[in-house]
Amino acid sequence: MLHFEARKEAQLPKKVARIAIVLVLVAFVLGPRGAEGRKKGKVVESFAYTAISCGGHSASITDFGGVGDGKTSNTKAFKDAVDNLSKYASKGGAQLYVPAGKWVTGSFSLTSHFTLFLHKNAVLLASQDMKEWPVLKPLPSYGRGRDAAGGRFTSLIFGTNLTDVIVTGANGTIDGQGSFWWQKFHNGKLKYTRPYLIEFMYSDNIQISNVTLVNSPSWNVHPVYSSNILIQGITIIAPVKSPNTDGINPGMNTRTQSYSCTNVRIEDCYIVSGDDCIAVKSGWDEYGISFGMPTKHLLIRRLTCISPYSAAIALGSEMSGGIQDVRAEDITAIHTESAVRIKTARGRGGFVKDIYVKRMSLHTMKWVFWMTGNYKQHPDNHYDPNALPVIQGINYRDIVADNVSMAARLEGIEGDPFTQICISNVTIGMAAKEKKVPWTCTDVEGITSGVSPPPCDLLPDQGSEKITACDFPAEPLPIDKVVLRRCSYRVKHM
Ligand SMILES: *[C@@H]1O[C@H](CO)[C@@H](O)[C@H](O)[C@H]1NC(C)=O
Ligand SMILES: *[C@@H]1O[C@H](CO)[C@@H](O)[C@H](O)[C@H]1NC(C)=O
Ligand SMILES: *[C@@H]1O[C@H](CO)[C@@H](O)[C@H](O)[C@H]1NC(C)=O
Ligand SMILES: *[C@@H]1O[C@H](CO)[C@@H](O)[C@H](O)[C@H]1NC(C)=O
Ligand SMILES: *[C@@H]1O[C@H](CO)[C@@H](O)[C@H](O)[C@H]1NC(C)=O
Ligand SMILES: *[C@@H]1O[C@H](CO)[C@@H](O)[C@H](O)[C@H]1NC(C)=O
Repeated sequence: MLHFEARKEAQLPKKVARIAIVLVLVAFVLGPRGAEGRKKGKVVESFAYTAISCGGHSASITDFGGVGDGKTSNTKAFKDAVDNLSKYASKGGAQLYVPAGKWVTGSFSLTSHFTLFLHKNAVLLASQDMKEWPVLKPLPSYGRGRDAAGGRFTSLIFGTNLTDVIVTGANGTIDGQGSFWWQKFHNGKLKYTRPYLIEFMYSDNIQISNVTLVNSPSWNVHPVYSSNILIQGITIIAPVKSPNTDGINPGMNTRTQSYSCTNVRIEDCYIVSGDDCIAVKSGWDEYGISFGMPTKHLLIRRLTCISPYSAAIALGSEMSGGIQDVRAEDITAIHTESAVRIKTARGRGGFVKDIYVKRMSLHTMKWVFWMTGNYKQHPDNHYDPNALPVIQGINYRDIVADNVSMAARLEGIEGDPFTQICISNVTIGMAAKEKKVPWTCTDVEGITSGVSPPPCDLLPDQGSEKITACDFPAEPLPIDKVVLRRCSYRVKHM
């Protein structure tokens, strides 16, 4: 059973609540600045959001000495604020308000029953002082860092072993100032793996919504070994040539081992990036196999993606713990290399099973469908070449694409074919300079119906009367049933 632990009701006294409502109304009438009133040298602001739970106590980063001048480091202010507000975890939770301004900060950790709220003109600027980025051990399921053999810099916003944490705002910005890191990466100057913008490990009941993430040093959002995650209304922007700036990379779950599911819902996101818009992962070769925890029950909907050198949705290549039950719908991709790509290799082990993708609208793609069993990056030479991945039950339907160079490039593994592929009701408009053979298929098995241009012989056409051949699950995922609440507050700050 899925249950978002609701924060204990710590409702504002009725009178205060009424004043807050009045302030919201005034804000509505007077425009964006209307909610700000001066009181004893302080600004009073009201704010509201929808969330998995509402918090009780509110404080502003300025209460803890924060300065939003774009220069002063606020790392200590954020640490002090989170330390202070962690005391409210058992008393209804707390929220930290970040007013308009440019707030330079290094890495800081969040606490349970906690909300970080960014004003629409608040910008968190990632510090470029390496001392502000503590180093963590590599992830157990990876065995090493992605950029270097050793540890990894802690993410800008980090949390481990938490429950009920929200990062939200009126579309405020988190700016990774990534060029500093991309240069070090290109010059081979990194001793440790680059930090992400937001990472949660071993955590439960997480919401990340209505914020804009720009120029991440590397991946943008990385929930790992975590469950019950809602990601909604996120804008992610990075230069399309920046290295490894994947949008959202849900990793695998360990917390709820009894039913071993992640329950991740990603919706209404707009992502422009230098790597996959969404990359689903679950560990790397022998480390992922022995860690043995799959990523499961993932819902992706209403995603718009631009990623000229990568995919809208990638499964793998690190999939050694297994990936199962991924549902994606209403995906728009523009100028993106492929819509869905499944990447694996000998040595990975694990599986990618029960993938359901429907209603994609695609414009200017190299390959609509791409699968490869020959994605050779390995963490080290100790992988087992006999550890073969199982790729099975891959379903695509109701897809329209135009200006496509090649409809599909599907390459399984010799002696380990990718099976139960089902593709139906797909119309692919080829580019003027299309490749001569629109489909290439090796070591794959499956069926198609109502697909044009006509698929390869390994995926025989069943005829369009069998257009419902690909069966999609009818029962919604538990994460889809989560109801959000409206939370509104006011806060006084300098
Ligand atoms: C995000 O913002 C939109 C538009 O303001 C709003 O409708 C939605 O409820 C918000 N979602 C969350 C989870 O805050
Ligand atoms: C931290 O929390 C305590 C309550 O435990 C409060 O009295 C104090 O003023 C807080 N500190 C700041 C700087 O807000
Ligand atoms: C977090 O949880 C994991 C898995 O249960 C555990 O191994 C680790 O020691 C915990 N870390 C902290 C900081 O409590
Ligand atoms: C949020 O901000 C980004 C960047 O400025 C913008 O592209 C996007 O449209 C905004 N989203 C909303 C819902 O206002
Ligand atoms: C085929 O897909 C298109 C959208 O891509 C959709 O409008 C249509 O209803 C689908 N046809 C069937 C029979 O499902
Ligand atoms: C079609 O795709 C090519 C790249 O393959 C691109 O240069 C061209 O602008 C696209 N045309 C349209 C109409 O989008």
